[in-house]
Amino acid sequence: MTQHRDDERIREVRIDALAYGGDYNPDQWSEETWHEDIRLMKEAGVTMVSLPIFSWPQLEPEPGVYDWGWLDRIIDLLHEAGIRIDLATATATPPSWLLREHPEMGPWDSEGHRLEFGSRQTYCPSSPIWRENVARMTRAMAERYGEHPGLAMWHISNEYGDHVSRCWCPESARHFRRWLQHRYGDLDGLNEAWGVNVWGQRYTSWDHIETPKKAPGPINPTKLLDFERFSSDAMLELFQIEIDVLREVTPDIAVTTNFMSMFRDLDYWDFAAVEDIVTDDAYPEPADPTSHVGAALNYGLMRSLKGGRPWLLLESSASATSWRDINVPKAPGKIRVESLQAVAHGSDAVMFFQWRQAKYGQEKFHSSMLGHRGERSRSYQETKALGLELRKLEPVRGTRVRSRVALVVDWDSWWGSSAVESLPSQRLQWAQQARAWHRALHTLGHPVDTVRATGPFDKYDVVVVPNLYIAEHPQAEAVRTFVERGGHLIVGPFSGVVDATEKVHDGGAPGPLRDLLGIEVDEQWPIADGLVERIAYGSADAGHGTIDVPSWAEWIEADADVDVRGRYASGVLEGLPAVTRRRSGAGSASYVSAMLTPDGMITVFADLLRAAGLPVRDQIDVNAEAVTRSDDQTDYTFLLNHGAQPVALRLPASGIDLLTGAEAADVVELDGYGAAVVASPRAAEIPFITLTTPTAKEQA
Ligand code: GAL
Repeated sequence: MTQHRDDERIREVRIDALAYGGDYNPDQWSEETWHEDIRLMKEAGVTMVSLPIFSWPQLEPEPGVYDWGWLDRIIDLLHEAGIRIDLATATATPPSWLLREHPEMGPWDSEGHRLEFGSRQTYCPSSPIWRENVARMTRAMAERYGEHPGLAMWHISNEYGDHVSRCWCPESARHFRRWLQHRYGDLDGLNEAWGVNVWGQRYTSWDHIETPKKAPGPINPTKLLDFERFSSDAMLELFQIEIDVLREVTPDIAVTTNFMSMFRDLDYWDFAAVEDIVTDDAYPEPADPTSHVGAALNYGLMRSLKGGRPWLLLESSASATSWRDINVPKAPGKIRVESLQAVAHGSDAVMFFQWRQAKYGQEKFHSSMLGHRGERSRSYQETKALGLELRKLEPVRGTRVRSRVALVVDWDSWWGSSAVESLPSQRLQWAQQARAWHRALHTLGHPVDTVRATGPFDKYDVVVVPNLYIAEHPQAEAVRTFVERGGHLIVGPFSGVVDATEKVHDGGAPGPLRDLLGIEVDEQWPIADGLVERIAYGSADAGHGTIDVPSWAEWIEADADVDVRGRYASGVLEGLPAVTRRRSGAGSASYVSAMLTPDGMITVFADLLRAAGLPVRDQIDVNAEAVTRSDDQTDYTFLLNHGAQPVALRLPASGIDLLTGAEAADVVELDGYGAAVVASPRAAEIPFITLTTPTAKEQA
């Protein structure tokens, strides 16, 4: 089992500017090109680059034979140019000789096939050979460059789990058994936890337990769930191995590994706890006009993983990616507004994959800061302008986002409700549900933090729980305390269903949340594809009405003291409660028994936010976003227009737009993909930004 070594000491990244730049792969270019790179980087305001992420084979071409020369030279050149280095430990992918010598360290898929060399990340996270070599390489890097004055921080591995997050090989099976022994003590404990009497699954020896490879039919759900937990922990152990080496050799240098936004396979709460700074790679889909909404939730997670501390956007794309089926480029202006969105949400960096667009290999069609046309490329022109503009935002560095609403992100429930094969419906997906709930809050004007299911919740007025399939006493206790102290809680369908061993709670859902919510679920009531049921919500004169329910409903019964906000208005459930609210202590606890359409979510959340005394936007436009970062004196309110049409936003206080240096009017008009960052004295209330009617300029 992983040792979580939460280290109270936080090491700062050694850079005194917003980090701006990208992944840099000098080993794909001649040294002559390096000089041009550095000249253009300086012109574009680059302050930091990440390297040598995938260069282990170039640094150790033969076992024990190192070639540091080229890396020494480029690091010195960058340092002389004043560009800081996010130095990778170069362990993202093994050299071919290592895998050839130890084929057993290769990863296996769920059908028992070994994955071959030829791409990247060809390793089993549990492999002792891999772990030993990773520690050796990390030590060599740390000893060589640990005192280099250009070193800003350590970049460990790269996007853990991007290609291989689970491994089904014999070594993983041995590791899984050790993990299970630690969790359950003895075989009786395991047999009890896994409910092995169903379908004759009893184990009589630890050696009989394999990784959950493809089986004739659905696999024991607790085994599947434990395998998810184990796999996240196995990767975390690998991360910790590098951290331990770096802490020993370079105790003052910050460490990170770059996350992949809301990534299902790794519990980032655990990963963030052992590193100094959270970093993220974000690739909103350019073809999706609402991808900025998802990005807002991802960034809310990033800033919340370390309790609100600034994080770094370490990768993004200047225009198109090359790993989608169709790689749509970004319209002019989008790079800027998307980058500013990350800063708005607490990032102290804007970085790209990658600096110079590749000439060969798997990623040559992936956009970069410096496109194939070089200085003339649009991506260079736009990123150069952005790099220079970011200097004006220097005052926001280190400030924190203010939010009154938090969304519970719980990996256990995410895994439970997706790894398990036999569920009432496959339509209720944790991530989709979380995104739908977040979208309503975003549209109503609230930036959303994220929080663990056990809190802490005290900073917030409203806590939303889109789904908590797995709930135990500590989670129930945490939300009960929150409500009693005056918080407003809202819980989504299929919550409180099972305990941590995947056993249904006595009495059924919502299990330990039953008394707080004041409801009982008699039966989950999924809806067949193509059918839609309805809820009659609130009263028509309060602006409420009918909400459509695709996919999921529940037969619930409510206690007498529960306020039924919405009732089913069609089908077998007609007349039964659908959305409830129960006052408790100084707060309230609501339950939403259905999956709702986006408009329905907005109706329910507007009602809840008002009940909690929070403002909501009457006029809504999903493209208009406002987020405030603050220090003790100043609020920096980012106003962002993610759409091509102009928007007008009303500010509660006047201030100076840092991007133009001019006084911001009460109503700020933003052109398509426009942005403003208004600095004003810190207000007691978080500035709430509403939309306003089109102005003369807009109508013209
Ligand atoms: C990331 C990865 C980078 C690059 C990028 C392309 O997942 O960390 O190395 O491949 O994607 O979008």
